[in-house]
Amino acid sequence: MAILFRSTPAATARWQPLLAELMPEHEFRFWPEVGDPANIEYAMVWQPPPGLLASLPSLRLICGLGAGIDHLLRDPDLPRHIPITRLVDPYMTDAMSEYVALSVLRLHRQDLDYLAQQRAQSWEEREQKNACERPVGILGFGTLGQDAGRKLKALGFPVAGWSRTAKEVAGFVTYAGGDGLDALLARSEILVCLLPLTTATEGILNAGLFARLPRGAALVNAGRGGHLVEADLIPALDSGQLSGAVLDVFREEPLPKGHPFWSHPRIIVTPHIAAETHPPTAAAIIGDAIRRFAKGEPVANLVDLATGY
Ligand code: NAP
Ligand code: GLV
Repeated sequence: MAILFRSTPAATARWQPLLAELMPEHEFRFWPEVGDPANIEYAMVWQPPPGLLASLPSLRLICGLGAGIDHLLRDPDLPRHIPITRLVDPYMTDAMSEYVALSVLRLHRQDLDYLAQQRAQSWEEREQKNACERPVGILGFGTLGQDAGRKLKALGFPVAGWSRTAKEVAGFVTYAGGDGLDALLARSEILVCLLPLTTATEGILNAGLFARLPRGAALVNAGRGGHLVEADLIPALDSGQLSGAVLDVFREEPLPKGHPFWSHPRIIVTPHIAAETHPPTAAAIIGDAIRRFAKGEPVANLVDLATGY
């Protein structure tokens, strides 16, 4: 029995020594060295080439190396009968909340304007609200959304969350479904997207949605690039309907050189680093899931292919 590991070359180099140390009982194969595919029962993967998982006849469990599993669902040959786990790692959750708090604070404290003023050597005080006067809406009120919400709330922001199914989360206003989205948008001066990318959420950040936000609202997208209709963002910023955007994820990654987002004065670009997978903690979590699965015990964070996350 062997485990196939497949990620980027840089990530593979970081994972390799940890796997030997934390899971010494397993034989690992590091893609593209698959060996005899019939020996592979488990796969730990990020963006596997289409068809790779279908080529493993003894595969029993797929462990995604990220929180989102849209990279797996893109494979038309994905063996859909095999259970998939996604990564839920408190270390990563903390990282995402740091990113969201930083981004929301930058937008709230008018950083884009003060950076432009610094470049122009212009000393100008701008009117500033406090956090308690700046409602934040979070699209995707799951593991990452709720933790970010708690940390924003601790900073004083009134936070509301939107999810697919209705839920009560102590201390938060929550919304669900289409009507709920309208209500959340109407009150959100800063909108944070932490949704999974599914057929229902693809393109959700579009001109129609921006028009339902208060004028001058700002956007943080740390979900997936596919959530944003890219052609709709710059017109919304240039018209003043949106005042700024912090983007960590893009339809094409790396964001191509010359893409207008790189140089737009109201957009902050980061290279998909909001919450990177952290091998030391992730290896222990995935190792535990594989051990449990092998013993026939329940495994946490299984993906539901019907909802797509
Ligand atoms: P999660 O715990 O599964 O939470 C997802 C949330 O989205 C849930 O509240 C879910 O609603 C909601 N949702 C799903 N489909 C919806 C729909 N059609 N309408 C309304 N709400 C919907 O996932 P997570 O761990 O928080 O991760 C969320 C996403 O963050 C990942 O899928 C990934 O794309 C992204 N991410 C990005 C980075 C980065 O570095 N930029 C890092 C990690 C993750 P229910 O509660 O009703 O199920
Ligand atoms: C990163 O984007 C992840 O899904 O973990």
